[in-house]
Amino acid sequence: MTTLSQSIVVALLAAAALAGLAEGFTVTGEVYCDPCRAGFKTNVSTPLAGAAVKLECRPFLNGPESLKADATTDKFGWYRLEVDQDFQEDICEVMLIKSPDPACSEVDKFRDRARVPLTKNNGIKQNGVRYGNPIAFLRKEPLKECGLILQQYDLKDAPETP
Ligand SMILES: *[C@@H]1O[C@H](CO)[C@@H](O)[C@H](O)[C@H]1NC(C)=O
Repeated sequence: MTTLSQSIVVALLAAAALAGLAEGFTVTGEVYCDPCRAGFKTNVSTPLAGAAVKLECRPFLNGPESLKADATTDKFGWYRLEVDQDFQEDICEVMLIKSPDPACSEVDKFRDRARVPLTKNNGIKQNGVRYGNPIAFLRKEPLKECGLILQQYDLKDAPETP
């Protein structure tokens, strides 16, 4: 193939991809187990496959939810949801529902969700993919090595570590 026809193929593929995404968004992100209740990933965090999450959008100014969708994480701990509308007037969040691991299934109500802006009218220049921050289920009893690990992260006195 000549370079010109290659560029044409690339341009056509890009246009097709854009047309497919123009309608809405793909919302994706990771769910992991936080065995140290650290609130961030540590070297003992593990992705959770088969975790249930939901995406919910609600109007900024009260009112019934405008979107509710469920998803389950794949074997790498990632969920993926397709949304075919723009939610400029809403707050959209991905929330933890159920952990596949009974030993790592506690939900901290202040850290169980990731906000995802689902509008193209907020100045963010991106394609249709929206990445939610990683969200974690917590182990009820931190692993015994967590003290040492958190010390390494210089957070020995973090609120979650008595
Ligand atoms: C995690 O980090 C701690 C502290 O640096 C270390 O002692 C431990 O061996 C590490 N664990 C793994 C699973 O890498």
